[in-house]
Amino acid sequence: MEVIESIDQMQQSAELLRSAGNTIALVPTMGFLHPGHLELMRVGSKHADRLIISIFVNPTQFGPGEDFEEYPRDTPGDLEKARKAGADVAFMPRAEEMYKDMHQTKVMVEKLPKRLCGLSRPGHFDGVTTVVAKLFNITKPHLAVFGQKDYQQLAVISRMVMDLNMDIQIVGVPTVREADGLAMSSRNKYLSEAERASALCLKESLDTAQALVEAGEPDTAVIERRIKALILGYPFTDIDYIALCDPITLDPASTIQEETLLALAVRVGKTRLIDNCLLRRD
Ligand code: PAJ
Repeated sequence: MEVIESIDQMQQSAELLRSAGNTIALVPTMGFLHPGHLELMRVGSKHADRLIISIFVNPTQFGPGEDFEEYPRDTPGDLEKARKAGADVAFMPRAEEMYKDMHQTKVMVEKLPKRLCGLSRPGHFDGVTTVVAKLFNITKPHLAVFGQKDYQQLAVISRMVMDLNMDIQIVGVPTVREADGLAMSSRNKYLSEAERASALCLKESLDTAQALVEAGEPDTAVIERRIKALILGYPFTDIDYIALCDPITLDPASTIQEETLLALAVRVGKTRLIDNCLLRRD
């Protein structure tokens, strides 16, 4: 596996791979890799001849007071995991090169970022779309793989690709979970043992909501109330949002449709965790 830091060098390598007739899959990450990331890499390798992964803790998607400084990092461990997962190139740019002094361009999707996580993380998705667009231009992929765990991120990136006619296929991968159901996340590392136990309230909420829908509950307000009580019944929890909404527009839904997205953001202690599922009527 080749490790590339320079943007020029990455563009040249990508160009060489393309001109030799290879298809390229990109898996963008912020590192501290876990089995969820590795599943994205597996899917990427399956769909393309060459796999490029990127590791970049992108400063522009963190708001003031968020965890940019403390975000967990483990470069040697990450490189070893990426190599074992079959990556051909690990692209690890430096922030100074990604955002030079005169950097003044943003890629901004208009409506989708105003929902869900966007309400408590203003500017976050502008940071994500901008860095992902840059990574696309640098690594020149035919397809790029993202996790459904970050449902809104996947929706926003898919919208950007469609709106800007980027010739890149976006592939979404189902959420990879721990044995007890907690969605894997680099941020789970922040949880104390007691908080880790409370973090199970997210998956339990998803399962409870699905059971209510299967039992015929049509009213999203009823489901929201049940989940709220469930989450607040656990210690250390604080609800950022519980959203039942249209899976495409992310507009709030008052009744359960054929498919309704349930998305949650819950603080457990100081750690903000997200999870989601598509509720299906039967
Ligand atoms: P990061 O949080 O490192 O996640 C990288 C990719 O892994 C994302 O597509 C995310 O949805 C996916 N992922 C994380 N946990 C997962 C899980 N448990 N199961 C399946 N996929 C999972 O998301 C980012 O980084 C950044 O915003 C990025 C897209 C790299 C832009 O900076």
